[in-house]
Amino acid sequence: MSCTDDHHDHGPTGIPRIGDTAPDFTATTTQGEIKFSEWQGDSWAIMFSHPADFTPVCSTELTEFARRHDEFRKRGTKLIGISIDSVHSHLAWRENLKKLFDVTIDYPMIADNGRVANLFGMLHPGESATATVRAVFVIDPKRTIRAVIYYPLNVGRSIDEVVRLLDGLQTADGNGVACPVNWKPGEKVIVPPPKTEKEVADRLAADYEKLDFYLCKKSL
Ligand code: BEZ
Repeated sequence: MSCTDDHHDHGPTGIPRIGDTAPDFTATTTQGEIKFSEWQGDSWAIMFSHPADFTPVCSTELTEFARRHDEFRKRGTKLIGISIDSVHSHLAWRENLKKLFDVTIDYPMIADNGRVANLFGMLHPGESATATVRAVFVIDPKRTIRAVIYYPLNVGRSIDEVVRLLDGLQTADGNGVACPVNWKPGEKVIVPPPKTEKEVADRLAADYEKLDFYLCKKSL
């Protein structure tokens, strides 16, 4: 695997944070060599790491991402997996998953040697020195990291929550709003807090669900 990093716009720990530009790199994947930024193009991207090929929890997660790939496609979002395993291992596991679950992993899986995992802070030595934790990076079309989820080795992620997070980000971006606890598409959204006296007055006159002047909801 070859890989270069050409962006260092992230935090003091070296781990890219929300609001940082995603590090760029080249890598070997199950779909060939890629430069991440070119592969992403002008789509949203979700990169998720798993600890190791041929492990049970990871098998359930990767097949669920594949079953729900169309939901991500509909949201203009590309999926890519990554672990510190060889491409031969990824390809063999992919065949095995097809046989066991009748599911084809139709997104690329990065065969990493630790370089990309380190660029993205996916190795948490207290959890494992050699296996990536279950990380999810949501990256927008401008290549800004918009959300990061970390899960431990022994609990699988909720793909429902990954889809909900993506819906929340895209809804917030598209409408200049925020999304409350447990929000789901179709439910009311939060109108951002007013910043001036006039905005307070406007809001009090508006047809919002008002709990207080700073906590108003509206339908889209
Ligand atoms: C799993 O995917 O089942 C797994 C992987 C690494 C450590 C523990 C569980």
